[in-house]
Amino acid sequence: MSGRSRGYPEEASEAHRFREEPVSFVRRSGRMSDAQERAFRELAPFYLIDVPRAEAFTSVHPDARLEKTAVYGRDAPLTVEIGSGQGHAIVAAASSQPEHDFLAVEVFRAGLARTMLDADRAGARNLRLVEANAPEVLSTLLPAASASEVWIFFPDPWHKKRHTKRRLVRPGFPATAARALADDGLLRLATDWEDYALQMREVLDAAPEFARAFDGAWAERFDGRVMTAFERKGIAKGREIRDLVYRRVPRV
Ligand SMILES: C[S@@+](CC[C@H](N)C(=O)[O-])C[C@H]1O[C@@H](n2cnc3c(N)ncnc32)[C@H](O)[C@@H]1O
Repeated sequence: MSGRSRGYPEEASEAHRFREEPVSFVRRSGRMSDAQERAFRELAPFYLIDVPRAEAFTSVHPDARLEKTAVYGRDAPLTVEIGSGQGHAIVAAASSQPEHDFLAVEVFRAGLARTMLDADRAGARNLRLVEANAPEVLSTLLPAASASEVWIFFPDPWHKKRHTKRRLVRPGFPATAARALADDGLLRLATDWEDYALQMREVLDAAPEFARAFDGAWAERFDGRVMTAFERKGIAKGREIRDLVYRRVPRV
């Protein structure tokens, strides 16, 4: 994977061609900067997990499994961030909690490069990255019950009516996330898009695998969530930020 060169292979249409379900991302084309290229060349061998693929470039082969202990060299609680963007939240968490392990899942190559550069600068060795479609990581790559937390901060809102079916948190998603979460594990979410916040809450309230872990209408802001450009932009546009947190109901 580290040997792959500039830009994306097949581009946006590829993500759809091989999948029945709509994906929640559009792969952005474009060249990477020299620093980003260097990050892939030099840092990917340590940080980026090589994922066996099915057909699509961002897919996960049905037989692929993450060997957690082999990858991290120990058995520690694992936090997984879906759509980690530039990696601000997960790098901050990884460097401040060396006793925990972290996995960033992202399809945006330049974001992965930035995450690796920042992680390396911060000396974070308890973080790994996966370049893949998150639902496939949760349903296939991660062993069942292997994550103690799953984070989804500012997922793409797909706010046009005809696009809402592409939202990551939609019916069916809770079961996928619940598979990867350990009993009593936490699913943390945040968005600046009211309509999406309402959808998240409705979908998760209806899921038998999850129970609310907050009182009132919305959760308190999660301390471990650092301010990112997406949150700043939402605030600047006058949008309210809403957090949610759900507990994985123990398996019977
Ligand atoms: C709006 S950005 C938010 C990034 C970051 N969480 C933050 O708050 O700054 C959403 C990110 O999710 C990623 N993403 C969307 N769908 C994804 C999927 N199915 N698998 C992996 N990453 C995905 C996008 O590439 C994008 O970088």
